[in-house]
Amino acid sequence: HSVEKGNFQWSAPSNIALVKYWGKKDNQIPANPSVSFTLNNCKTITKLAFTKKENDGTFSFDLLFEGQPKEDFKPKIQKFLERIAIYLPFLKDYHFTIDTENTFPHSSGIASSASGMAALAMNLMSLEKVLNPEMTEEYFYQKASLLARLGSGSACRSVKGQVVVWGNHANISGSSNLFGVEFPNVIHTNFKNFQDTILLVDKGEKQVSSTVGHDLMHNHPFAERRFAQAHENLDHLISIFENGNLEEFIKIVESEALTLHAMMMTSMPYFILMKPNTLEIINAIWKFRNETKIPVCFTLDAGANVHVLYPENVAETVLQFIKNELVGYCQNGQYICDEIGNGAVLI
Ligand code: PMV
Repeated sequence: HSVEKGNFQWSAPSNIALVKYWGKKDNQIPANPSVSFTLNNCKTITKLAFTKKENDGTFSFDLLFEGQPKEDFKPKIQKFLERIAIYLPFLKDYHFTIDTENTFPHSSGIASSASGMAALAMNLMSLEKVLNPEMTEEYFYQKASLLARLGSGSACRSVKGQVVVWGNHANISGSSNLFGVEFPNVIHTNFKNFQDTILLVDKGEKQVSSTVGHDLMHNHPFAERRFAQAHENLDHLISIFENGNLEEFIKIVESEALTLHAMMMTSMPYFILMKPNTLEIINAIWKFRNETKIPVCFTLDAGANVHVLYPENVAETVLQFIKNELVGYCQNGQYICDEIGNGAVLI
């Protein structure tokens, strides 16, 4: 099959890891398995227009961000195309216009790499499917996740499913280092419509990129123990997703967040991505939880922002608490209400 020109548009969400991916081997192979909730509102929407060109051995593309040319993102995309070219042999036969926008505020400190790379991977797979229409839906999503992984590791968890595992794990059938898979078992109703309110503590550019952070896990004094711990924590979560035990869920999730940052603090060179207000928020959440017994907890990405996680049935009370006591710690009082979602969508 062949096609001269056309376009697709996909949205892909961000995701928040419960068991964190931190440390990798060559080719974006994770040092340990991770699991995340797919988000619903924090998304990248990307339109891919393609026109057939002569294959002169180079990639040709224009990049627009919110409709405006965006030169500084181009090297990242160029590198991505080089990495995935062996999987998509048609890439040099087309000129692409990639037009992308995020639903969350620009430079809010929310990483758009997961949603952005996933949205682009979905579009490229749509073209691949036009050229090879006989592929199954399972193959389509698996390969999309594999491509997204090569753009940004955690992006492979933004393709399909509400709870997504990436990385080989003995007790999760179908799990793979190469792509994310939907958590295969039935999940307890306590996690239905689970809420994630993202408190924007610091919107500045990260001082240390996650690429550098992953690299610092090589020769890290605690690396092997940490990687083993991630396997254990994922094992725990398998039972927690089945029995709905929120007290145990909180222990694993908060410990994972603090361990991620502990790895940063104990690498060489060492660094700290939390800000004073990150700690103020964590302490306020602990105090509130102690006093009310409401099962609300926090997790962190590689940054200062805090994700506040809680079940839907306590949403009203927790949101009131966030407005009364936590918003003051956010930059310009900004926060984003999100919840568990289903993955990428063709628009
Ligand atoms: O996908 P990357 O290379 O940006 O790494 C992201 C790592 C964390 O967000 C800190 C953890 C995770 O599993 O998402």
